[in-house]
Parts: sequence; C-alpha cells; structure tokens
Amino acid sequence: MSLKLICICILCLTLTINAAPSKKQVADTLQECLNPVKGNKVFPNDAVYSQDIIDENTRITFKPAVIVYATSVEDVQTSVKCATTLKIGITARSGGHSYEKYGTGGRDGVLVVDLANLNNITINNSKKTAVIGAGNKLGPIYYTLSQSGFLIPAGSCPSVGVGGHSMGGGYGLYGRKFGLASDHISSVNMVNANGDLITASTDENPDLFFALRGAGGGSYGIVTDITFNLSPVPPTVTSFTLTYDPSKLQLTFDAMNQVGTSLPAEMTISLSISPNNVQIVGVHLGSSESAQSALKKFIKVSSPTDTQFNEETFFASVVRMGFQGFQGTINPTHHPNSFKAKSFFVKSPGLSSAGVQSINNFLNTIECSTFAEFDLFGGGAANSIAPDETAFVHRDTLYLIQLYTTLTGDESTDKICLDKLTSFGITFQKRFTSYFSYQNYIDRDLQDWQHRYYGSNFERLTKVKQKYDPKNLFNFPQSIPTSAN
Ligand SMILES: Cc1cc2nc3c(=O)[nH]c(=O)nc-3n(C[C@H](O)[C@H](O)[C@H](O)COP(=O)(O)OP(=O)(O)OC[C@H]3O[C@@H](n4cnc5c(N)ncnc54)[C@H](O)[C@@H]3O)c2cc1C
Ligand SMILES: *[C@@H]1O[C@H](CO)[C@@H](O)[C@H](O)[C@H]1NC(C)=O
Ligand SMILES: *[C@@H]1O[C@H](CO)[C@@H](O)[C@H](O)[C@H]1NC(C)=O
Repeated sequence: MSLKLICICILCLTLTINAAPSKKQVADTLQECLNPVKGNKVFPNDAVYSQDIIDENTRITFKPAVIVYATSVEDVQTSVKCATTLKIGITARSGGHSYEKYGTGGRDGVLVVDLANLNNITINNSKKTAVIGAGNKLGPIYYTLSQSGFLIPAGSCPSVGVGGHSMGGGYGLYGRKFGLASDHISSVNMVNANGDLITASTDENPDLFFALRGAGGGSYGIVTDITFNLSPVPPTVTSFTLTYDPSKLQLTFDAMNQVGTSLPAEMTISLSISPNNVQIVGVHLGSSESAQSALKKFIKVSSPTDTQFNEETFFASVVRMGFQGFQGTINPTHHPNSFKAKSFFVKSPGLSSAGVQSINNFLNTIECSTFAEFDLFGGGAANSIAPDETAFVHRDTLYLIQLYTTLTGDESTDKICLDKLTSFGITFQKRFTSYFSYQNYIDRDLQDWQHRYYGSNFERLTKVKQKYDPKNLFNFPQSIPTSAN
C-alpha cells in the first residue's frame, strides 16, 4: 500500500514537471515577451479589461490572454513573434464589429492586437490616394477625406473599423456608383506569420492582394495600413427617405425587382422592413431635383405614402445616414447590442412574391425585434468586376439581404429566437435566394460557409493561405484553412 502511494506521488511529481506551464507562468512570460511593445497592454487582471472586451455584439464574449494596443508596426511584429514563441493564438482587432466577436479571437486565451492607435490618414492630393491606418473607423475616415474633397465608398456606421470592413468587401450608401471599399484598394501592408512587414498590390505578392480583397479579415496576417484610390466628393448630395404602407409591401418589391437596376448609379438605396415599418433610405450623388426625376418610375410603381428629400453636403449626408450621436468628430461611440444576423444574396429577377411573403411572415411572428435590410447592388459598380478578380465573389447580385435579430436578454426567449432564425435562414436560402452569404456579416452557424462566402475562389484562397501562413498562425473558427479538404 505504501508502495502504491509512493508510485502515485512520483507520478504526481513527474506530471507537475512535464505539464504545460501553469496559467500564472504563461502570463509572466507573455508579459516579459511583450516588454518591448510601446503601446498599452491590458491583461485579465487589469480594471479596464472587462470594458475592453465588450465590442459591438454583446451576445458572446471571449476572454483574450492580453490586448496589445499597438502604436507602431514594430509593436505588431513583436506581438506576432511572442504568439509564435509562446504558441498562443493571435488575432487582429480594428473596429471590433465582427458579428461573431472574431476580433477578440472567436475563442478564449488569444493575444489580441488592437489597431485603434494605427489611425494615421495620409492623403496624397496629386495622386488621389490615401494611406489609411487599419485601426481607423469609417466616421473619421469620411470626415478627414471629405475635408480634402475626397471619399471612399464604405458602410454607413461610423464606428466600424476599416481593417475588418474593407478586408471583407464593405458595401454602403455610395455602393452603386463606386462598388465596394475593397474595390478601391491599391495596396496593403501586412505583418505576416514570420513577423515581417510585406506589401500586397498588383506588383508585389499579387496572389495575396487577390486574397485580402474579400477574404483578408483575420486569415493571412495583421494588416497595418491600406492604400485607397480616392474619388472626388460631389458638390451636392441628396439623401432621401421613401415611406411605405406595410400592407402593400409587394409593391415595394415590384419596384426593387423591376426598376431598381435601371436607377442611375449615382443613386444607392436600401430597403428596410420590420413589422409596421417599411422604408427606403437612399443617397443620390446629385441635386434633389435630379434625384426626384430619377426616382419617378420607382415611385410610380411602389407608391410610397411619404417622400422626403434633403439636399445637403456630402458630409452632412454621411452624418444623417450614420448612427445617432455621430457629429463627425474623432471618436464615434459603439452601440453595443446583443444580436444575431443572417445574410443572403439575391440575383435578378429578385425575390418572388412567395419569398416576400415568407420573410414578412417571419418578421411578424418571431418573438425578438427583427428587421430585414435589402441593399440594392443591381445596375451598380460592384457587379462590373469579375468574380475571380478579387476574393469577393458575389458579383452578380440584385440585392444583399441582412436579417438582423436583437436578443431580449431573457435566455429562454432568446433561445427560441435563435432557433427560429437559424431554421428560417436555412429554408429561406434553399427556396428563395442564391446559395451565397456575405462574409462581412459573418455567421458561425452557417453551413458550408467556405463556399457560401467565397464560392469558386475558395480553393485558390486556401493555396494563398498555404503559401503565406502554412502553420495556420492566424486562425479563428471561420478562417481560411491551409487546404481545401
Ligand atoms: C453596426 C454595424 C454596422 C455595419 N454596417 C455595415 C455596412 O454598412 N456595410 C458592410 O459591408 N458591413 C457592415 N458591417 C459589417 C462589418 O463590415 C464587419 O463586421 C467588419 O468585419 C467589421 O470590421 P471591424 O474592423 O470593425 O471588426 P473587428 O471585429 O475588429 O474585425 C473583424 C474581422 O476582421 C479581422 N481583422 C480586423 N482588423 C484586421 C486587420 N487589421 N488585419 C487583418 N484582419 C483584421 C478580425 O480579426 C476579425 O476576424 C456592420 C457591422 C456592424 C456591427
Ligand atoms: C503616424 O504619423 C505620425 C506623424 O507623421 C508619425 O510620426 C507616425 O510614425 C505615424 N505612425 C504610423 C504607424 O505610421
Ligand atoms: C504624392 O505622389 C507624388 C507622385 O508619386 C509624389 O511625387 C509626391 O511626393 C507625393 N506627395 C506627398 C505629399 O507625399
């Protein structure tokens, strides 16, 4: 018996010696390894940690080992080397708006490199380009560029980070004229898995350049800055709202399906429907008069109950279309919300009337507050690029649908809502839409996301991954793998 005890004890001893270092030991070495970093580091014991991991979607939380607020490319490089040496996961966070919290890793215990301080915007007026630090938010970008008379097309929410946004496409209110944010990228600087800063453009690492424009969010390295080709801000912009009687929803779709594509590219519209509320908001890059004349047929077919046109400066329209409280000054606030979303791409001729009924019925029966948004792509610049020119494959789209559910905080109600959303999404996608979904509205539960997000580009993307990150340092639950099988 005593022999047995000794045996057990020896076993214990051996186990202790050979076991992975305890949590405390890892933290110390991580701290030590990150010593050369000049930016702030936030560890789990720090008071601000619980705030710093919140981000936009409060439905899920992950607990990183540390958040490094990089202030330079060197800080990013040091972080990558520490993650490799200590064999811990690493993830980039720009604006923290990932729908599945992939900006904090999509799992616990990773090293988060937050890029908020890499927020320089350097405009070259004669070349009409801007080098934009990956940590910039869309609001400050619109503001700074418009001060110099320029714009890039992107989403309307001012607190979204350009890092994640433009790496997955980026569609917004100038989308029909200019296409996606990613379509205007001329080069990208990225820290790779070896900790080296490399450039991706048509001349340098063109395979990586292809991959980053549509599949660059998190899978290949940490992007530190992005060079965009700029477009001039028009002298006058008209934002407008068309309000509809929800009981005549089909008329709105008749207009979207039949007339949408022939609207001038200067006009981008987004239809949003929820119980008791059907509305189109739009931006026209021109005068109110020209907006009203361009919309004549659309209005005739759809019969809005109210129309409003606001002729204003470009930046005033950015503020109007952005979230409440954004005044164009430097730090747009987050609006944390517990939510889950599904996305669908619809090709011409658009959603059938059975499809319209199906989604409307869903909106009217789900227990949690839910809306559907339809962003018109048809007749716009996003469709004029070949599907294999960049990693953004969805080039034949009439509209993009987002179905967005805000959870209540009550666990049993939320479970019912999430289950309904999931099963509705599967059926609706099978019956009424194309096969595809939008990678920027990332959804952890989506089946065959590899092809729904990347289509025929997926295999090529895995080859680029194999070449630039063969050990899969940059991984998260829906990252591009090193092989297609
Ligand atoms: C309120 C709201 C409004 C939105 N509106 C629109 C819209 O109008 N149009 C549209 O197209 N999309 C929109 N989106 C979706 C948005 O584009 C994506 O969620 C995008 O990924 C957010 O980028 P981020 O940098 O803010 O998020 P993060 O959570 O920081 O990052 C998202 C993903 O990209 C990776 N990533 C971030 N930065 C880098 C980097 N520097 N290098 C490499 N990988 C990086 C992260 O690791 C993560 O996987 C919206 C999202 C929200 C929450
Ligand atoms: C940002 O610009 C400042 C001022 O020009 C410069 O000192 C700094 O190095 C730049 N930061 C990065 C990350 O490029
Ligand atoms: C802008 O680009 C031009 C052309 O490449 C270059 O000659 C010039 O120095 C740049 N200007 C600035 C301010 O960097």
